[in-house]
Amino acid sequence: MSKNYAVIGLQWGDEGKGKIVDLLSEKIKITVRYQGGHNAGHTVIIGDKKIVLHLIPSGIIHGDTKCIIGNGVVVDPYSFIKEIKELHGFGIKTKGRLFLSKDAHMILPFHSEFDSIIEEEIRGEQKIGTTKRGIGPSYEDKAGRRGIKLSSLYNPEYLKKEIDYLVKIKNIFLKGINKSTLDSNKIYEDIMEIRDELLEYIADTFLIIQKAKENEDTILFEGAQGALLDIDFGTYPYVSSSHPTVGGIYTGTGIGADTEIDVVGIVKAYTTRVGKGPFPTEAKGEDEKILRERGKEYGATTGRPRRCGWLDLFSLKYSVKLNGVKSIVLTKIDILDSFEKIKVCIGYKYKGKMLDNFPTESWILDRVEPVYEELEGWRTSTYGITDYDDMPANAKNYIRYIEDFLKTAVSIVSTGPDRKETIILKEF
Ligand code: GDP
Ligand code: IMO
Ligand code: MG
Repeated sequence: MSKNYAVIGLQWGDEGKGKIVDLLSEKIKITVRYQGGHNAGHTVIIGDKKIVLHLIPSGIIHGDTKCIIGNGVVVDPYSFIKEIKELHGFGIKTKGRLFLSKDAHMILPFHSEFDSIIEEEIRGEQKIGTTKRGIGPSYEDKAGRRGIKLSSLYNPEYLKKEIDYLVKIKNIFLKGINKSTLDSNKIYEDIMEIRDELLEYIADTFLIIQKAKENEDTILFEGAQGALLDIDFGTYPYVSSSHPTVGGIYTGTGIGADTEIDVVGIVKAYTTRVGKGPFPTEAKGEDEKILRERGKEYGATTGRPRRCGWLDLFSLKYSVKLNGVKSIVLTKIDILDSFEKIKVCIGYKYKGKMLDNFPTESWILDRVEPVYEELEGWRTSTYGITDYDDMPANAKNYIRYIEDFLKTAVSIVSTGPDRKETIILKEF
């Protein structure tokens, strides 16, 4: 049986998954997104070209790779079409190689309005800091069995009835907070205008994936977000509404449990988080500023400044186990080049005692005291290094420290945003 790979972020997202998926896609026949939606922002840099993928798998940049948006993804049809047009602008073809699962649920325009209303007017102080892309509200409707699947577009009469029912429920809420109600005819007519364009991409992706499995084609599963944003295993409620962790692959694609999937865990050499929620190793003052400015840590989707801090090995130990990570890709090590000392968190103290596992409760995480080990910096440029032997000794020590702590090998080290700025320690 062929080996397949999953690229999964082990922190709070933005670990550099886009770059690594693009890098690995060269030798891969199919890339599959299995969760999330256009809340993701996966950046791929090739020479002077910068492409940010939100919904479409990063594999699309390689002409021969087939790309699938699986049933576990929530799809904003309008953003989908916009993203396709952008790709066409880069000369990237999509027809016949990009497939949307008929079983994926839609994000409709009112979902992002609901996202904003809930965040700003209802949650207020307790807001999550979502991307306001309507991700949560769409998954809510899916779980509430009132969501609209893409397959409804096959049958306009059925689609109309489904929209009517969904809008009826939404309007009860809107009336309750004195907001103007939705017009289901308008929502239906608008979606029907782009129906033909969407139908060109909608397919039974279960069959495509199963066929690839039969042919022993290597499949690459592209995670969006990160393990600590998982709705079950993350820092709830400060999470997204899907399963970026490995289990999401099975429910989000239908690949079947007899498939061998090597999980490649993507780890940024420090930590970032966008939006609200606990962040025990968040740096303060000058250190945070250096990380943000050197790392250009501004959201690829919303442009928000990302909160920055030190590498949290204690949470990573949890993410490694949770996903059954086979090897680690360490990204953005070059951002640490200027530090004299580099802190890594090796445990959390809570009420005077060391914890034996990462707590998911945000009210505990808010109060833990991170325990740090201080490692020597290297104070020389690692930017763009492609040969491990050229790495400064202290950077090698940093990598080795991570491997030892996590008992997991580092297979790739990324030293810059471009495909080429990479050290391959183990060929895939
Ligand atoms: P993703 O969401 O996990 O795909 O990550 P993002 O694209 O949101 O953020 C990662 C950012 O870091 C992007 O701007 C990448 O171009 C950039 N990047 C990725 N790897 C490296 C690296 O090794 N060094 C530097 N300097 N930048 C990197
Ligand atoms: P990629 O794939 C970083 C965060 C939001 C917010 C929380 C919930 O680029 O790594 P949502 O809109 O999903 O309901 O927001 O999740 N978030 C991300 N943070 N990278 C992402 O994606 C993210 N997608 C969502 O900032 O805190
Ligand atoms: Mg991102």
